[in-house]
Amino acid sequence: MSLSRRQFSIGLASFIAAPAISRLSFAAPIDRPVMPIPTVRHADAGWVHLRMQKGKWAFDGKTPISTWGFSQDYMGPVVRVRRGAELPLHYENTLSEPVAVHGHGLHVVGELDGGPQRTMMPGQSWKLVIPIDQQAATLWYHAHTHGKTGPQVYNGLAGMMIIDDDKADALPLPHRYGIDDIPFIVQDKDFKPNGELDYNRIGLGRFYAEHMMVNGVVQPKVKVPKGLVRLRVLNGSNGRFLNFAFEDNRSFVHIASDGGFLNEPAEVNRLYMAPGERNEILVDFSDGLPATLRSVQNGKPKGTYKLFDPLQNEKTICYFEVDLSVSADGDARVPARMNDIVPIDPAKAVVTRHFSLQEMKINGAKMDMNVINHRVRRGDIEIWDIEGDLHNFHTHGCSFQILSMNGKAPNPGNAGWKDTVVIDESAKFIVQYNYTAPDAFPYMYHCHLLEHEDLGLSGVLGVVR
Ligand code: C2O
Ligand code: CU
Repeated sequence: MSLSRRQFSIGLASFIAAPAISRLSFAAPIDRPVMPIPTVRHADAGWVHLRMQKGKWAFDGKTPISTWGFSQDYMGPVVRVRRGAELPLHYENTLSEPVAVHGHGLHVVGELDGGPQRTMMPGQSWKLVIPIDQQAATLWYHAHTHGKTGPQVYNGLAGMMIIDDDKADALPLPHRYGIDDIPFIVQDKDFKPNGELDYNRIGLGRFYAEHMMVNGVVQPKVKVPKGLVRLRVLNGSNGRFLNFAFEDNRSFVHIASDGGFLNEPAEVNRLYMAPGERNEILVDFSDGLPATLRSVQNGKPKGTYKLFDPLQNEKTICYFEVDLSVSADGDARVPARMNDIVPIDPAKAVVTRHFSLQEMKINGAKMDMNVINHRVRRGDIEIWDIEGDLHNFHTHGCSFQILSMNGKAPNPGNAGWKDTVVIDESAKFIVQYNYTAPDAFPYMYHCHLLEHEDLGLSGVLGVVR
């Protein structure tokens, strides 16, 4: 344990003022606003009304500024639905510009996917009933308007979605929402001198902001019980890759990725996430000590990425503080096995597609809403081979299995079901589309750095019978 001189002397003061539990609790209590827990809307309680509206939200916990949200001031509620049920959604656009909203990670037909072909004009609504048939996972919904996704998500048009199922319920994981099963949406923002949101520093076509936040509050204090805690982490930032690490370098357990649980838990002390990715982790706070979560450098920057390095400095994300007034779940533990994902045999692939991400174009073309770039046959097993220089790649309507990243087998945390993958130099995945997407309501695939997506690093995909 290394304490800086300053921390040590502040810690000593609090040691004298209050009875200390151990010499390791020297660090002064952090004076930060408490991280809010989003409200939940359950699918079985009737139409889930998501009204796109203007709001006022205090990112610093004090001064409200202009934002957008879904039926609330900033972002939207966590929408929760069980496998086998239907999710009745009612989107309503009360903003003064067109918006499309996509369910990222949902396995649904193109008609229910919410791509830019489903744009709602100001005043318009879209009611849809989504049959949920996929395993327990943490997904999200967000604006997906042609050329406008970046600023609209930045203003607040995003929210988490949780799918539950019986298999997940049977696992001995922490399960009390907001107490030891915590939605954790990480983003970065800039503010203008007058305090309002600033979306100008797009710089070299990639947005990085100064201020890190979780669930809409800058570097918050996160209260946790003295035990095992599950974090459902979403990298909801526009363009920032995050490489999570605790300041004391403690390890934590990676249990789920984009499409659901990994087969087995993986103990790690770093978690690298591109925008759009979700990962669930278990952190053990049973020592009662506070912990600081940071984003740290991920190896040596290379290629054009060097240019961005000064913008990708290490950042403090939040401060965990153990709250002894909340009882820990004594039965929660790290399960030995969580899923039974069977790798799809690459020999079964009938098509291989190549995607080269260069100069905000995919295979030399910018996104054109009127062009179907690829037509896939439903049920076919395909290999997708992607290359690019620090982007990522997301495809709608299904999950895939990563075969390789930069020519190497994926690490255990990337070996489960995914829908978004880091493209450092290259990645290959195996995919099977099980739903159709007609030409009128096709799927999209794109870089999930939202500014890249908006600039045209996107393509259109139909799935036919
Ligand atoms: Cu999260 Cu096409 O998007
Ligand atoms: Cu990109």
